[in-house]
Amino acid sequence: MCGIFAYLNFHANKERRYILEVLFNGLRRLEYRGYDSAGIAIDDSLSRHPNQKCPSSSPPLVFRQAGNIESLVNSVNEEVTNIDLNLDEVFYFHAGIAHTRWATHGEPAPRNSHPQSSGPGDDFLVVHNGVITNYEVLKETLVRHGFTFESDTDTEVIPKLAKFVFDKANEEGEQTVSFCEVVFEVMRHLEGAYALIFKSWHYPNELIACKRGSPLLLGVKELNEDKNKNHVFKDAHFLSKNEHPKEFFLSSDPHALVEHTKKVLVIEDGEVVHLKDGGVSILKFENERGRRNGLSRPASVERALSVLEMEVEQINKGKYDHYMQKEIHEQPESLTTTMRGRLIRGGSRKPKTVLLGGLKDHLKTIRRSRRIVFIGCGTSYNAALASRPILEELSGIPVSMEIASDLWDRQGPIYREDTAVFVSQSGETADTLLALDYARDNGALCVGITNTVGSSIARKTHCGVHINAGAEIGVASTKAYTSQIVVMVMVALAIGSDTISSQTRREAIIDGLLDLPNKVREVLKLDEEMKDLAQLLIDEQSLLVFGRGYNYATALEGALKVKEVSLMHSEGILAGEMKHGPLALVDENLPIAVIATRDACFSKQQSVIQQLHARKGRLIVMCSKGDAASVSSSGSCRAIEVPQVEDCLQPVVNIVPLQLLAYHLTVLRGHNVDQPRNLAKSVTTQ
Ligand code: F6R
Repeated sequence: MCGIFAYLNFHANKERRYILEVLFNGLRRLEYRGYDSAGIAIDDSLSRHPNQKCPSSSPPLVFRQAGNIESLVNSVNEEVTNIDLNLDEVFYFHAGIAHTRWATHGEPAPRNSHPQSSGPGDDFLVVHNGVITNYEVLKETLVRHGFTFESDTDTEVIPKLAKFVFDKANEEGEQTVSFCEVVFEVMRHLEGAYALIFKSWHYPNELIACKRGSPLLLGVKELNEDKNKNHVFKDAHFLSKNEHPKEFFLSSDPHALVEHTKKVLVIEDGEVVHLKDGGVSILKFENERGRRNGLSRPASVERALSVLEMEVEQINKGKYDHYMQKEIHEQPESLTTTMRGRLIRGGSRKPKTVLLGGLKDHLKTIRRSRRIVFIGCGTSYNAALASRPILEELSGIPVSMEIASDLWDRQGPIYREDTAVFVSQSGETADTLLALDYARDNGALCVGITNTVGSSIARKTHCGVHINAGAEIGVASTKAYTSQIVVMVMVALAIGSDTISSQTRREAIIDGLLDLPNKVREVLKLDEEMKDLAQLLIDEQSLLVFGRGYNYATALEGALKVKEVSLMHSEGILAGEMKHGPLALVDENLPIAVIATRDACFSKQQSVIQQLHARKGRLIVMCSKGDAASVSSSGSCRAIEVPQVEDCLQPVVNIVPLQLLAYHLTVLRGHNVDQPRNLAKSVTTQ
């Protein structure tokens, strides 16, 4: 929810036009995180500052706009012409910050957009991702000290607090208060989750980034760098201050970094990263209590840069019109990557098995658990639900399901004998993180299943499996969903691998996994058919989706996809519950999709179809190849035939036509596919 980005060039001649483009592009890459308003702050003209070394030692230029990134770009271009700003002007140093917003406090409007300011003169500017929970108390205090507030945001207290700290230090004669000291003092007072970037013209050509709870990365590009040099932070400086030209990038996620550099630092909670004079300093409070009571002083920390495992192609649309379309169609490849190196084919004597490096040391503990609890939100919850039956079957351990926010609301029982599995593609979802803290506090073994290396959930869990689905940029999750199911099936295989009686079943599933990318390739050929179906449904108000067993999750997920992107009401319903209420809705007008592929529930689904036919239901039936005639025997329906696979893998195949349907419905209805109304990719607020 919200994306923050910054670009600092040091000793590198860059035109203003270039600097603006880097900032805009950074925001374009982060736009999927929030797209209801955006803003940037850049340095003013050198010509207005005789001292060329300090181009930013006077108020910067701030642009804020409601709407998406392109609205901001257009308004900046207009404004640039109005104020006659020279885009060809070259900056030897420059520090720019940028933000794309998903509103939590205050409507999307320029005054609520970031950068938020300390007030007239813009002494301190801040871009923020997260939520400050104690902002009301801070605001009251600041108002008492004469500050006036322009916005409805929680963020505005941060730059104002910085100004308050700065002014106070100066009044007390501490002329030398450093930017870092100001930020540390601000951090001591903040409660909640945040990733922040500070810019101030009192500290020209410096930027400060810090975080607690929300993600933030630093990317470093040394121009003329020695490619073999291994950067290690020493004495708090991994890049000592030197005159070599460099570019620094700060970003909420790696998507905005990869086109510039692969050398990154994943900033950790409590750390303050100071970019100054071509160097990077990292400081941190020794402990949380120290932070709060102000007794401990921040100490410097040593960190090493890591190399991003991501290619620029992954974040481009390639031949597709939309990211969602690309991500649906690349599922054969993403599933292959998810399984790579994890399925062991065995030999003449050795059985086929799975190897999950992140879990192998914890399998014994998991097998001894009294219960396995799946915890997630939205699509991730649905993926866990799809995997529950096979996990129960192969592990013999009771598996319960928890929607993260509901577990927290109820403070539901979690015990130290439980294994709590946290499923989240972003690894940053606030509800899931809160539930994770809760489960950890209650002593459960916490397992993370995420698509984001270094994410908060990946770091806070005791062990886990990365789904390796690659960057997913479309806000509606597609390929991450299928990879999550595959990972959880592999987890079930690993947990059950000590049971001889299920060896044949496990080997059949492994064979099924190895062939799954081919089956998904086959089902993707339904694209045109799903487009035709979308054309038929284009003006409908509602779509019901019935599923059961393994495919109850498919019904929920298919309906979620349709509603979130095409903005058509859609409801996933457990077919076993049909008689207990939903049947009342059935008539000849309401379209109803029934998932009736071959598995243990097939005959029950046939009887559901008959009952719906008897009430003249308008049916679309998803069935296994060769079953179209039999499902239509009791009445007319539109059949969608899909390849049959192992029952526990069928949800992976079955969701694909529904993803395609949701995609085409959205395009035909004229809605934004990749950025659905009111949604954001990474929900880092509760
Ligand atoms: C829907 C979707 C959401 C997310 C949910 C949890 O397409 O993507 O329902 O699944 O917000 O997000 P993660 O998986 O990042 O925890």
